[in-house]
Amino acid sequence: MKSNLLSGIQPSGRLHLGNYLGALKNFVELQNSGQYNCHFFVADLHSLTEDFEPAQKKQQILDLIASFLAAGLDPKKSLIFVQSQVPAHSQLAVILNNFTPFGELSRMTQFKDKAEAQKENINVGLFTYPVLMAADVILYDAQFVPVGEDQFQHLELTRTLVRKFNSKFGAIFIEPQPLQTKVTRLMSLTDPEKKMSKSDSAGCLFLDDESETIAGKIEAAVTDSGKEIKFDPELKPGISNLLTIYSGLTGREIPEIEKEFEGKSYVRFKKALAKLITKHFAPFRRKKARLLAKPEKLEKIALRGSKLANKIANEKIKVVKERFGLL
Ligand code: ADP
Ligand code: TRP
Repeated sequence: MKSNLLSGIQPSGRLHLGNYLGALKNFVELQNSGQYNCHFFVADLHSLTEDFEPAQKKQQILDLIASFLAAGLDPKKSLIFVQSQVPAHSQLAVILNNFTPFGELSRMTQFKDKAEAQKENINVGLFTYPVLMAADVILYDAQFVPVGEDQFQHLELTRTLVRKFNSKFGAIFIEPQPLQTKVTRLMSLTDPEKKMSKSDSAGCLFLDDESETIAGKIEAAVTDSGKEIKFDPELKPGISNLLTIYSGLTGREIPEIEKEFEGKSYVRFKKALAKLITKHFAPFRRKKARLLAKPEKLEKIALRGSKLANKIANEKIKVVKERFGLL
């Protein structure tokens, strides 16, 4: 029997190259490997923990579904759904809250970082975010969860909760494992010491950036005063990051790329990279625009996936309720 695999992305802004190389590209490869029973979802409830405009939320959700499909996720091969359309996620999160030590949540680095970044909106949802994430994963008996390294701590908490729960109430849940991608941390183009993130748009390449924007951002990418195109994250973090992008998009090994650009200037390398990125995402952009032109179709795909997700998740809730003596 195939192992279950699950992951989610928040619909809270445009997807960038870090999301693509760290998550989405990997989702597509895992789906197409045929080795897993794949589940991918839009973590819309998670995205409510940050400030948002209700008028934009629906568009952000549809945009993410369109990105999933344009990148190659296929509803015939994977279960694609929207978190808030499956109430069991919220239900299990409320139950898990009662087994989650306050101290464990206080230690979460993402909570600390986000609380620092949004001082006027340190809400309880932000604090209990990892509990909802645990519910997302264990409702579907996911054995594997492909995520970037920023999510490992949350998965560790999920594993702790599963062990605790199973030892108290009998084996109900499966302990998930993270599946690490090759590119776990793409860095900002303007500050290669920092992770590429949508909150820093100059250092961030969005998947639907136009070719001129891509060329401009790559041209302005911080490098170093040297000349050599060599992978050395300590001494040459900027060039190393650009090499990571080149390798991630072509699937070629870094030494081979270094060899190709041996003796060539940074300008030449950057031009080649900008061209590569533009070409790589041209079909993605076209496909996504076509999908977004028919929002009703996207909603239908989501609803169909969510219907099946409800079936699976409700079965699990039923078992939990039985074990607890709930009616
Ligand atoms: P952001 O940091 O831009 O807010 P998210 O937190 O929404 O991005 O991340 C969505 C997914 O993309 C997660 O699986 C995360 O691990 C991955 N990811 C985000 N930024 C990067 C990055 N710079 N490098 C690699 N993966 C990333
Ligand atoms: N927390 C993840 C992020 O910020 C998104 C997410 C929510 C997720 N639930 C999940 C990822 C379950 C994997 C599994 O990127």
